[in-house]
Amino acid sequence: MNTTFFDSGVSDDTRRKQLYEGQLHVYSPLPRSLELCKFAREMCEEAFAPHDPQTAQYHLPVERFAEILAELKPKFIHHPTSKRLIQNLLVEMGCDPGKTYFDVPRLRTSTSDEYLTSGISYAFHPHRDTWYSAPFCQINWWMPVYEIVPENIMAFHPRYWSHPVRNGSQAYNYQEWNKTSRQSAAQHIKSDTRVQPKPEEPMELDPQIRIATRAGGIMLFSAAQMHSTVPNTSGRTRFSIDFRTVHIDDAVSRRGASNIDSACTGTTMEDYLRGTDLAHLPHEVIAMYMEMPAVER
Ligand SMILES: [Fe+2]
Repeated sequence: MNTTFFDSGVSDDTRRKQLYEGQLHVYSPLPRSLELCKFAREMCEEAFAPHDPQTAQYHLPVERFAEILAELKPKFIHHPTSKRLIQNLLVEMGCDPGKTYFDVPRLRTSTSDEYLTSGISYAFHPHRDTWYSAPFCQINWWMPVYEIVPENIMAFHPRYWSHPVRNGSQAYNYQEWNKTSRQSAAQHIKSDTRVQPKPEEPMELDPQIRIATRAGGIMLFSAAQMHSTVPNTSGRTRFSIDFRTVHIDDAVSRRGASNIDSACTGTTMEDYLRGTDLAHLPHEVIAMYMEMPAVER
């Protein structure tokens, strides 16, 4: 991991290869990403009205704030417009929509000053998505919905790209998690008791990289990158959108980042939808990942 590409003109095939090697790709806001941001903003503003979503936390009891998010987030995630806007964005970003599968976009929040850091607005400890049953060919897409500052974004911990960390991923199985824990996210207001894969040794989080784009800017990174939520001291709630993609050719031929420390089981492969018609990955491809422990992928 040594390069952050900015508005690169490389093909999607080259870009994925670079991401699997630990590089980052960052893009200025594009018409389609701005459209997605605008849609998210409208939904947030409607949900928090009459307050500004970024400062609503100072006007609402935390239980009410969590309640609003519990309704807003699934609404955004499952809205047909969100999917359509992602499909358009993939094309604009040079992905082959017939071979690129995406999962529904998540709307994330990071509140300021530890107002709400669990459950529905979970502050992610350092982790790799591959500890959570993501395949090693998964690419993460992240974009801020409003303007951001270094005090309210996410951080990469580049030392750990090639450095394994003792962690609790062997206890994690995505299919199990979906059955039990996810439904209860909104109930965890003061603390979060759900078991998540965490580092089990002291981490050196510095030096770290925080990439601050304009609202609607896009950051692409491998699911194997170590990353975390920065403790938000900005005085504003951060709203961001993230989603993940998988290229079917890479999935079939098991191309992707190297596995240096993930031992989870299960797979997120059932979640991805084809860029053209929202079809799921073929059953045999999902099965390839479902049947094998992540450590052998
Ligand atoms: Fe993550």
